[in-house]
Amino acid sequence: MSVSSSSRRLLLGHTHQWAAIRNKWAEPIGWFKTTATTSFVSTARCSAMSRVLITGGTDGIGREAALKLAAEQHEITISGRDPNKAKDVIGQCQMKFNNTPRFIQTDLSLEHEVIKFASQVAEEQFDICILNAGVMNPKPGRTREDREATMMTNLVSSYMIAHKIIDSRRDDQRSLHFVFSTSILVKFHNATPLGIRFFNPEKVTDWQKSLVPTDVSGAGKYAISKIGLATLSTSISQCNLPNITATSVHPGTVYTNIMSNLPARQQFYIKLARPFTTSLADAGANLVRAAENPLPAGMFYKTDKSSKLPELICSEKSIAAFEQVFEQFKIRN
Ligand SMILES: NC(=O)c1ccc[n+]([C@@H]2O[C@H](COP(=O)([O-])OP(=O)(O)OC[C@H]3O[C@@H](n4cnc5c(N)ncnc54)[C@H](OP(=O)(O)O)[C@@H]3O)[C@@H](O)[C@H]2O)c1
Repeated sequence: MSVSSSSRRLLLGHTHQWAAIRNKWAEPIGWFKTTATTSFVSTARCSAMSRVLITGGTDGIGREAALKLAAEQHEITISGRDPNKAKDVIGQCQMKFNNTPRFIQTDLSLEHEVIKFASQVAEEQFDICILNAGVMNPKPGRTREDREATMMTNLVSSYMIAHKIIDSRRDDQRSLHFVFSTSILVKFHNATPLGIRFFNPEKVTDWQKSLVPTDVSGAGKYAISKIGLATLSTSISQCNLPNITATSVHPGTVYTNIMSNLPARQQFYIKLARPFTTSLADAGANLVRAAENPLPAGMFYKTDKSSKLPELICSEKSIAAFEQVFEQFKIRN
């Protein structure tokens, strides 16, 4: 995909609020302010019934989080591609908690479906949006629309949905919280010079390259998509929009369907390590924790603990580079 060419059609308009922000992007920085941990006030959430959206709520960690939130009697909407999986989650919620989640079927690897889905959920004015759907090593590596499959499904779709929801917000007195499922890879990425040589989030060209489809969409693209989700979360937090918060979370390492395209040997080792990794129940609880307890910009949940994001991921330069490339994906009305 040529980033500069294909993207323009996605860009149609912004609310005044975002137009103002966009203007600020044009200023040579000095604008970003990391919310100081001490001054951060997290609104108590989920104390009463909240309206919660969970993408990828049909399976794995998202499914587990949906069940936990259903047990707390929140009003839940899950999304995914597979209606049979959804039927099972809905059945469990009805049987165990007398709570019936809604299901929206959508394929987030396809731009036209993302636009439709984002517009639908933006109308609904959710209190909490858990953008959790994800893939690893998808086959084929290009989508039917010739997009980089991992980047489209994990990151571009989340960017499109989150910004559509923000742009369509009607009541800025009402709190709106985003949760993004990231990965522990964000901590490891810049641990060695090799990581930065492979992908430097401060470089516009590296973000652009990450979006170019190839036949194989592998571990590198997964790592970049997860770095991007932490950057997106930080970018939203740092805007300090009234009553909007965003937190990213590494829910834990759990053997789920997402690993089914990994080489057999890697799957074997991950299964072998099960006693030392996170349980599915705990990973779901970690997602719920992030939904109920927003963190200030620059922080994320490393399983059940809050932790600092690496400086490189939330640096002014990285966020500016990310926004410069991704702004093209904002959906116009
Ligand atoms: N498992 C781990 O160790 C781990 C570690 C760190 C982060 N995470 C992150 O946690 C999130 C959930 O992972 P998981 O382990 O729970 O994986 P999973 O069991 O494979 O669940 C993935 C979810 O995403 C949905 N999904 C996948 N592709 C989609 C598409 N093209 N369109 C719409 N929905 C799609 C799936 O729904 P359908 O099948 O119905 O389409 C499913 O509900 C992912 O973002 C992953 O990167 C996982």
